[in-house]
Amino acid sequence: MLLYLFTILIALTPTIEGLAEPTKICGNDDCSAKLFTAVATRDYPPNHEEFINVKINDTITVYAIKFSNRPDIAEGVNGEGIRGKFYITYVEREAYFFFLSHVVKNNVEMSEVAQSSIPGVPKLVKKHPANPYLWRDYNVRAAELNEKVEVEMAPDPNEKKSHHHHHGHDHHHHHGHDHSHDGHDHTHDHKELPKTEEHHLWLIH
Ligand SMILES: *[C@@H]1O[C@H](CO)[C@@H](O)[C@H](O)[C@H]1NC(C)=O
Repeated sequence: MLLYLFTILIALTPTIEGLAEPTKICGNDDCSAKLFTAVATRDYPPNHEEFINVKINDTITVYAIKFSNRPDIAEGVNGEGIRGKFYITYVEREAYFFFLSHVVKNNVEMSEVAQSSIPGVPKLVKKHPANPYLWRDYNVRAAELNEKVEVEMAPDPNEKKSHHHHHGHDHHHHHGHDHSHDGHDHTHDHKELPKTEEHHLWLIH
């Protein structure tokens, strides 16, 4: 009897997985929008054909982040012009942080797409405002780099009545504080929004 149930479970598994293809987060519906560039900090000789060869000091152009089944996997184009998966931990952390900081502060709309989506093959699952969708990632990266979190988490548009209380940072004490980000911001060629009072921008959306 147990074996019988087990067999049924095995038989059903591919169907269940097929219903919900894992996703990734892109700047548009077919992941053709460049998100940011980052310099590789380590070599990664790939042992799987879906992964790109990452060489130290190579500039990787990133097109997708946050694979739903593996958040440390991203998709990009390496120095040889080959597109594929790579581990986000193999590129400079600052670049990913500044990208997250930019999209969260400006509440850029991100596209959650099926992982099989490639340029020319849009497979949109859902649009998400970067705040709150990427706010936690922004927070984690900020903590890693001892950077201040400069924007509060926006209420989740899908949750009607939810007040997020978060702790550990004071958002009123950084006026006039210069982070000297010049020369580090890799995101400015993508979806540049008019510079307004960043602090309050998310409230408008
Ligand atoms: C990578 O770049 C750094 C800084 O420019 C340099 O010191 C280092 O030698 C380079 N490493 C390789 C393997 O090219």
